[in-house]
Amino acid sequence: MQKTLGDIVKGLLPEAAKKRLQNLPPDMEWAAPFLYGTKIFPPRGVPVMLSNSEKDFLYDLASSVDEGAILEIGCHSGGSTYFLARGAHRHQKTVYSIDPFLLERERQVLEDDGSGYFHQSQICRKPSKAAVAQTLAAYGIDNAVLIEGFSEEIAPTWKIPLGMLWIDGNHAHAAEDFYAFQRHLLPGAIVAFHDTQYGIYPHGRKDVTTAVNEILGNGYIQPGSVAIVDSITAFRANINSRHCIN
Ligand SMILES: C[S@@+](CC[C@H](N)C(=O)[O-])C[C@H]1O[C@@H](n2cnc3c(N)ncnc32)[C@H](O)[C@@H]1O
Repeated sequence: MQKTLGDIVKGLLPEAAKKRLQNLPPDMEWAAPFLYGTKIFPPRGVPVMLSNSEKDFLYDLASSVDEGAILEIGCHSGGSTYFLARGAHRHQKTVYSIDPFLLERERQVLEDDGSGYFHQSQICRKPSKAAVAQTLAAYGIDNAVLIEGFSEEIAPTWKIPLGMLWIDGNHAHAAEDFYAFQRHLLPGAIVAFHDTQYGIYPHGRKDVTTAVNEILGNGYIQPGSVAIVDSITAFRANINSRHCIN
């Protein structure tokens, strides 16, 4: 993880001063890039599985959504949900986030995608939906809706048109997640995948990278819209409005 100038300065400060820096009021958020290397204050103490550039990218992408909702697949502790929801505030949009949280733990272990999030030890460390909701509320997030379940089981009854789809759930099923929700994408909606760039970015995964390359090759994108930041690949969907068919 890259050290910011703020990290170096904080390392030199006495404990009491460090504590004060951790509890800065919202109107001091202009200092976030210096202190944390992110555009906005990060949710301190909440594990976020994103680099600083990825946090800013997600925040910017969500800020640009002015039509439809944002759907996140894979919430875990709510770290990425926080950055999406903060961005979504700009146009008063809602972030829906699907995760099994502590549901069907044995099934989660069985469906291990190799990332470790499905191993028993990791499942034990996962917070409950209620705990994540509490954390987000403590950070002032009032536009995130947590949905406890597995994406493949939520998809068939999904009805809400999407301005952004962010896929970071079971990595072995990234393509399935895209195809399951793509009919709800509004024209020009943003689609973003985490853990792409296998062989280029250290945390890139082969399965996700292959899935995204296949989707890009199938003409689902607006030409020239692909953007890559660390292991995130994002694009605008080239899909005519086919949402809410049911
Ligand atoms: C890599 S973590 C998500 C990290 C989070 N986006 C972040 O950046 O802080 C993947 C999450 O997806 C969840 N998950 C696994 N299978 C899923 C499924 N079928 N539907 C939704 N979420 C799933 C896992 O339990 C885990 O919490």
